[in-house]
Amino acid sequence: MKIALGCDHGGLEHKNAIGEFLKEQGFEVVDFGIYEQVSVDYPDIAKKVCESIQKGETERGILVCGTGIGMSIAANKYKGIRAAACSEHFSAKFTRLHNNSNILCLGGRVIGVGTALELAELFVNTEFEGGRHQKRVDKISETEK
Ligand code: RB5
Repeated sequence: MKIALGCDHGGLEHKNAIGEFLKEQGFEVVDFGIYEQVSVDYPDIAKKVCESIQKGETERGILVCGTGIGMSIAANKYKGIRAAACSEHFSAKFTRLHNNSNILCLGGRVIGVGTALELAELFVNTEFEGGRHQKRVDKISETEK
């Protein structure tokens, strides 16, 4: 599975650690930056990751900003994107099981790197349950038309 990564200046350390970790786990990683500690606008990075998923170049994404919230608000404006800002394990798992989320948003100023790696691992290894949840996700897609 190909995973798109991106962050702003609030999430560089977390994004880099997640990238290394996912590669060690055998995932292919496409890193949309940032690559050094410079101040950027998180919607610009969210755009790159979302467009990569929309084009089918990558299957899922992980975005890190200071809170995870700005990235999730920006990402959820893109058709077909279901982005979830999570700071604990239950949500990171269930947003895959029930929402079929394709982007996980994390807060570099909210959680430590260790927790970020655990949430990333849950997110990429948990599959959508489908069933009764499919029609709910379909209703979200309907609103995009
Ligand atoms: C940047 O300072 C900060 O606002 C951003 O990383 C994020 O937390 C926005 O939601």
